[in-house]
Amino acid sequence: MDVSDNYNKYRDLFIGVDNRVQLASGNMAIPIGFDNGATTPSFKSSYRALSRGLATYGAVARGTGQKSEITTQKYEEARQIILDFFNVGNDPRYTVVFGKTTTECMNLLANVLVKNKDDKILTTRMEHHANDLPWRYSATVEYVDVDKMGRISLDSIEKNLKENNGNIKYVTITGASNVTGYINKIHEIAKICHKYNAKIIVDGAQLVAHKEINMKGNNNGEEIDFLVFSAHKTYAPYGTGVIVGLKESLCNLTPFLKGGACVKAVTDYDVIWDAPPALHEAGSPNSLGAIATGRALQQLKQIGFDNIYEHEMMLKEFIIAEMKKIDRVILYGDNEHIDDRLGIIVFNIDGEDFKKIGKRYADEMAIALRTGKFCSHPYVNRLMGISDEIACETAYNNKPADGMIRASLGLYNTMEEARAFIAYTKYLVSTL
Ligand code: ALA
Repeated sequence: MDVSDNYNKYRDLFIGVDNRVQLASGNMAIPIGFDNGATTPSFKSSYRALSRGLATYGAVARGTGQKSEITTQKYEEARQIILDFFNVGNDPRYTVVFGKTTTECMNLLANVLVKNKDDKILTTRMEHHANDLPWRYSATVEYVDVDKMGRISLDSIEKNLKENNGNIKYVTITGASNVTGYINKIHEIAKICHKYNAKIIVDGAQLVAHKEINMKGNNNGEEIDFLVFSAHKTYAPYGTGVIVGLKESLCNLTPFLKGGACVKAVTDYDVIWDAPPALHEAGSPNSLGAIATGRALQQLKQIGFDNIYEHEMMLKEFIIAEMKKIDRVILYGDNEHIDDRLGIIVFNIDGEDFKKIGKRYADEMAIALRTGKFCSHPYVNRLMGISDEIACETAYNNKPADGMIRASLGLYNTMEEARAFIAYTKYLVSTL
């Protein structure tokens, strides 16, 4: 680990990261953006692609004008860029459906893939709500629990699939946790799913910007059937969510959103639906968001995932090692074996209110973190030892809920920022 390296050659690729914000004192400071698990700044290149797209902006797949043709072509190119990025560009079984966010895309899948409420889905207690709640309302959901450290074991997935005797249709699991950053072994899980005739859906919201995903896997049976992610967590915050998935499973069904552009014909009493991806893209699509998403993924590939991973792991290792030394800091998850964790650090300061602490980081140092349960209540409750009874009682009686503080790293973060975060944490603890 080279902690003397303050220079980040990637930082200049981003918009706004050096724009000052006002501290509570009235002074101006360059913010430290440690909330990348929630959302990321834009690559300059994805913004430029969007901007170029605006110059020739027209209706997708419905106009006869030149701008309409250019926009349609760019929109379809974005689909192909995404397929290529996940190594399924030459595999006609896969398609890309554009939506708004991971949440919307997961709702779409939960609504179209599940035929009736008795269909069984397997998910985990590690998920954020977007990969939990949509399924609760469309299917019968089984959960694989996490262990004491908050990890998912492959054995417990297999055990559940076995016990269910081939009746689990889909296993939907996060690629990496938004709370602990644990990276799940998605290809090994895929292999287990396929052995029991289940398909795998990977929630890639946290993973896509940080680690290469080859949807094909390296061996037979390891392929990922569906992958969902949000562009606003991959340096293209322009309102795009993406499903990359098996066309066949998305065919011959009633779409989640209904309207124009998803039909072949509509008569007074009949609707003849189109094929995917159009079937699942009713209404005018966000073509500029799709174009920017494609460009952001190309940019990530140009930088190279080995470089991305190495840089983010260096920051993570430094921060975890230093946080462990600070009195009263409680770290969650496994902080001894951290190789399978993305750059996400969750903590509290013993006996202190997490919201007040989070606010002090922002007010005094412009360090942007996230506090609370990160839209992953069941998982955070487990990590903090909060029972369902307490969680419900707290909510019903409008009492202040417990929570954590999260630092989530991105490619543009620097070792200098990591040091400033640690120095301020030490100072903060000393003032309590
Ligand atoms: N977007 C949510 C987060 O910040 C889930 O982790």
